[in-house]
Amino acid sequence: MNIVLITGASSGIGKEFAEIYAKNKANLLLVARSGDKLKQIAANLSSAYAIQADVFVKDLAEENAVEKLMSYINEKGYEVTDLINNAGFGDYGSIIETDWAKENSMIHVNVVTVVYLAKGIAKHMIDKNIKGKILNVGSIASFMPNAHMSIYHATKAFVLSFSLGIREDLKRKGITVTTLCPGVTASGFQERANITKASFIKGGSMPTSKEVAEFGYKHLQRGSAVAIHGFKNRFLVFIMRFLSKTFVTAVAYRMSSND
Ligand SMILES: NC(=O)c1ccc[n+]([C@@H]2O[C@H](COP(=O)([O-])OP(=O)(O)OC[C@H]3O[C@@H](n4cnc5c(N)ncnc54)[C@H](OP(=O)(O)O)[C@@H]3O)[C@@H](O)[C@H]2O)c1
Repeated sequence: MNIVLITGASSGIGKEFAEIYAKNKANLLLVARSGDKLKQIAANLSSAYAIQADVFVKDLAEENAVEKLMSYINEKGYEVTDLINNAGFGDYGSIIETDWAKENSMIHVNVVTVVYLAKGIAKHMIDKNIKGKILNVGSIASFMPNAHMSIYHATKAFVLSFSLGIREDLKRKGITVTTLCPGVTASGFQERANITKASFIKGGSMPTSKEVAEFGYKHLQRGSAVAIHGFKNRFLVFIMRFLSKTFVTAVAYRMSSND
């Protein structure tokens, strides 16, 4: 059975991707840690859109999470046509104060899992002769360092660089790779990253996760290389080409302080 694999589907952007695909009659395999939420989402989508939605409850920071997920896909005989490599999180604070256990987990989920899953699914698509689509979720953070979220921004810079690299490789095998780069978006992200009080969050209006997922879906269908959500964000990325990284980092420090 053909399926779309979505990580981080229990909330925010990933949950909205699940709904968009379900509306388009795709069967789903949804991954996250929150089993109850995930099962409820799968049940709702199955009954609303007459599709099959399965769940794989897993902490993607675990060492062998991707191997277990790939084994499950093979056991079930699923053929993955699209991968939405979306699970991820951030953490706010000075490098000398933040919690290493959380950061270690973040590097694993945002980088190691994204890479290993993209690699596993790309091989799976080629073995099964699937002309598939991979979407890796980067961020506006992919384009600039930020002293308050140094590790998160570095993980997202990695995602963009990695995705552009494999895009060039995999297009020769009929697989497209798109990097979706949202700006600040309303989701569970801010609470988990402890940034609900930061100046760039307070007062500003944010796009919904649904708007961002719809934008990402449209660009994935087109096979775009990089999809930056929001005119202001695209303008910012354009302007940053002409500025030094040290200057951009100093401005970002002031703009994203948490007081
Ligand atoms: N919201 C923003 O402002 C923003 C901006 C740019 C980029 N992004 C990126 O967009 C992606 C989606 O985030 P979101 O905004 O939708 O935030 P969200 O509402 O917090 O959703 C994050 C999703 O990732 C899953 N996840 C987190 N850690 C996981 C783990 N260890 N194992 C398995 N699943 C895990 C969460 O599920 P469980 O908690 O159930 O495990 C949840 O489903 C992330 O990659 C994020 O970096 C977000």
